[in-house]
Amino acid sequence: MRCSRRTALTAASLLPASLLPATLLAGCQGLSTTSVDDQEFTSTLAIPPLAESTLDGGVRTFRLTVQEGTTQFTGFSEESTTWGFNGAFLGPTLRAARGEQVELEIDNQLAAETSVHWHGMHLPAAMDGGPHQMIAPGGTWHPHWRIDQPAATLWYHPHPHGATEEHVYRGLAGLFLLEDEASLAAALPSEYGVDDLPLIVQDKSFDRDSQLELHHDGAEPGQLGSTVMVNGTVGAVHEVSTERVRLRLLNGATARTFTFALPDRPMTMIASDGGFLEEPLELETLRLAPGERAEVVVSFSPGETVRLRSVRSDLGAIAAAATTGANDEFDVLELRAAETLAPCPEPEWSPAPEAQADALHEEDSTHTRSFTLNDREINGLEMDMSRIDEVVHLGSTEIWEVISTQPIPHSFHIHDVQFRILTVDGAAPPPELAGPKDTIYLLPHVEYRLLVRFEDYADPAVPYMYHCHMLLHEDEGMMGQFVVIEPGQEHLVGVEAMAGHGH
Ligand code: C2O
Ligand code: CU
Ligand code: CU
Repeated sequence: MRCSRRTALTAASLLPASLLPATLLAGCQGLSTTSVDDQEFTSTLAIPPLAESTLDGGVRTFRLTVQEGTTQFTGFSEESTTWGFNGAFLGPTLRAARGEQVELEIDNQLAAETSVHWHGMHLPAAMDGGPHQMIAPGGTWHPHWRIDQPAATLWYHPHPHGATEEHVYRGLAGLFLLEDEASLAAALPSEYGVDDLPLIVQDKSFDRDSQLELHHDGAEPGQLGSTVMVNGTVGAVHEVSTERVRLRLLNGATARTFTFALPDRPMTMIASDGGFLEEPLELETLRLAPGERAEVVVSFSPGETVRLRSVRSDLGAIAAAATTGANDEFDVLELRAAETLAPCPEPEWSPAPEAQADALHEEDSTHTRSFTLNDREINGLEMDMSRIDEVVHLGSTEIWEVISTQPIPHSFHIHDVQFRILTVDGAAPPPELAGPKDTIYLLPHVEYRLLVRFEDYADPAVPYMYHCHMLLHEDEGMMGQFVVIEPGQEHLVGVEAMAGHGH
């Protein structure tokens, strides 16, 4: 990797050497991995196309092809080899409504085996696209399930065990938007790509030949790129034509945590990972770890130009903040408001008819489990594809207590469910963490108690995953497996039962 960067100055580089953490003294890589290059904001923000689908008798069918291609990123002399769905980089936005049956045909045209996981989706484990649902090169996979959860901004990405970081990093990621009666009736900007913007925010590193570079040099929590892009656009600009714009933010990075902010105005947060908050929430900053999403509504005055930024992240008591990107500050997206803006009402929505049934109740919980993250392990164990770590019962509500005991960034993601954070270190969660969540940043040494319900899909032989969503950590073993079973299926849980599934 190169050691010189156009903007290599970080707070740490101004300190006398005696105050520098040892990792920085080892060489210049600590600095170069955490600096983000300044960009000219001159390229029109790419909007991922809405995926075509057919709707027939309540069944919505999509086709995705996983493929390699080339992408010309702004500011680079040559085209880069990249991976994408139905194109060279990233993937189309899928959209479906609650109650619809979705069916997908996924063709893998890569030379590598991969999988496609529906992050945030409530669905049968065999359809989840985790490391047990691999698609061979040239192979096809046909997952199908019924959408049965609130409107939300979900996403999809590969999950091959040991290679998820690489597959996502090369470009395999897309959004999956769910609608329901509440979202369709809400007073919210909703014109896709105009005032309802999908924003996949990522950081990348490039070598001298303009090729994506992924290196593991011991930096935590993995590689931090010096080039920030949104939907694949470096230095992205979007023309705003309405008084309010809805930003659907996905942290699609493999390691970097972003803390979004806008100059001179709050953001109005309306939704977290799994759907709407109870009410609009004014925020100055919004921290999103890899895999997390949020929807915010932002107001504009005619004629102004503002930049969405990422500012210093509060990552808690971590060591060597400069090497984790916590100190980085950089622009992400330029928003240019037209001289006249179409009016747009204040954000407003009312609960969906199913909201009461969706709600989680602490008094229903029958079981508590603890998860300690440390040293690429959860509860002292590295991921083992043939080991079921947890067995939960269909229909049960549980409390999962999660803690990172290491001074580096970690996060926690659970497949299949949207959970509710009961407490953060014993106190009520801050309002931005009080809505439906499937991924959370773990401040070191802080205990998070999560309320989780497992309903609808029992399968003793196919596990769901839970893991750190810093993808290097996940690949290196910070992941576990759980199955959901019905009474009487206990003897079917285990390695034997899993033979025949997966590869
Ligand atoms: Cu976003 Cu297990 O994944
Ligand atoms: Cu997931
Ligand atoms: Cu981690």
